[in-house]
Amino acid sequence: MTDSDDHPSPPPLAGVIGQPIAHSRSPALHHHWLDTYGLPGAYIPMQVADKDLEEVLRALPKAGFVGVNITIPHKVKALEIADLVTDRATIIGAANTLIFRRDGKIHADNTDGYGFVANLRHAAPDWNPAAGPAAVLGAGGAARAIISSLLEVGVPQILLSNRTRPKAEALRTEFGSRIDVVDWVQAGNMLEDAATVVNTTSLGMTGSPALRVPLDGLQKGALVTDLVYSPLRTTLLEEAAARGCRTVDGLGMLIHQAVPAFERWFGVRPEVTEATRAAVLK
Ligand code: ATR
Repeated sequence: MTDSDDHPSPPPLAGVIGQPIAHSRSPALHHHWLDTYGLPGAYIPMQVADKDLEEVLRALPKAGFVGVNITIPHKVKALEIADLVTDRATIIGAANTLIFRRDGKIHADNTDGYGFVANLRHAAPDWNPAAGPAAVLGAGGAARAIISSLLEVGVPQILLSNRTRPKAEALRTEFGSRIDVVDWVQAGNMLEDAATVVNTTSLGMTGSPALRVPLDGLQKGALVTDLVYSPLRTTLLEEAAARGCRTVDGLGMLIHQAVPAFERWFGVRPEVTEATRAAVLK
C-alpha cells in the first residue's frame, strides 16, 4: 500500500498517555501481542501535561498514530476532547481508549468495565453475577467502571462503601436504586451478604496503606477480586482464599481491557494466555 506521495505506509503506531507514565505495563503487553502475531507496529508510552493533552491528541494522527490508551490523570479530559463517544464511555464518564479515525475525528471508548467482567469470566468461568449482591469497596474513578459493568451483567444489588461517604451517595444517585451505600466503618458487615466482592480502592497496593476492612463476614464460595495488582496476591486475596473464597487478581483486568483496543488498532483480536501474563509481569 502507498500513501498519496507514493511512500510506503509506515507501521501503525499506538501508545499510552498519562502523567506519570514510566510505570505503565501496557507497552510490554502490546509489544508481546505484536510479537506473538508477527504484526508490524509499535506502542509508545507518552508523558503529557494536562494543558498539552488536546494539542498532542490532535497531532498524533498526523504522525501515524491509529489510537492511544489514556490513563491517570487524563481519562475525564480525554472524553471531553473526543468528537465521538461510545455509550459505555459516557456512562463511565471517562475514556481509556481513543481511536483516531481516517476522517480526523477522535473516537473515545472505555473498556475498563469490559476488561473487569472479561477477566472474571476468564478466570472464574462459573462465576454467576446474579447469584447475590456485590460488595464494592471504593467510589473513585475505577469504581464507576466496575459499578456500571456489574449492573450491566445483572447483579441484583450493589453494596457500596467508601471512606468519603458522599462520593458513594453520588454514585447511587447516578447509577440508581440497585445501589445501597454502607458506611465505611461498617464495610465489613456488607461482606456477609456478598456473592461478589471487589476492592477498587488503592488500599493494599505497594506503597499504600493496608486495607483494614474486617473480613470475618466473607462467605465461603464468594468470588473476591482486587483491582490492585501490585502485589499480585494482595492481602485481601490471600485472606479471602484462606476463608474458602474464589479469588481473581487484578492483572487480568489490565490485560483484558486492552483486547478490544489492540484489535481495533492492529487488526487481530489477541488471546489472553499465561504467556501474556508473564510478559506483563516481566
Ligand atoms: P481510581 O481512579 O483508581 O479509583 P481515585 O478516583 O483517586 O482513583 O479513587 C481512589 C479510591 O481509593 C477512593 O475510593 C478513595 O477513597 P476516598 O474517596 O475517600 O478518597 C480510596 N482510598 C484511597 N486511599 C484511601 C485510604 N487511605 N482509606 C480509604 N480509602 C482510600
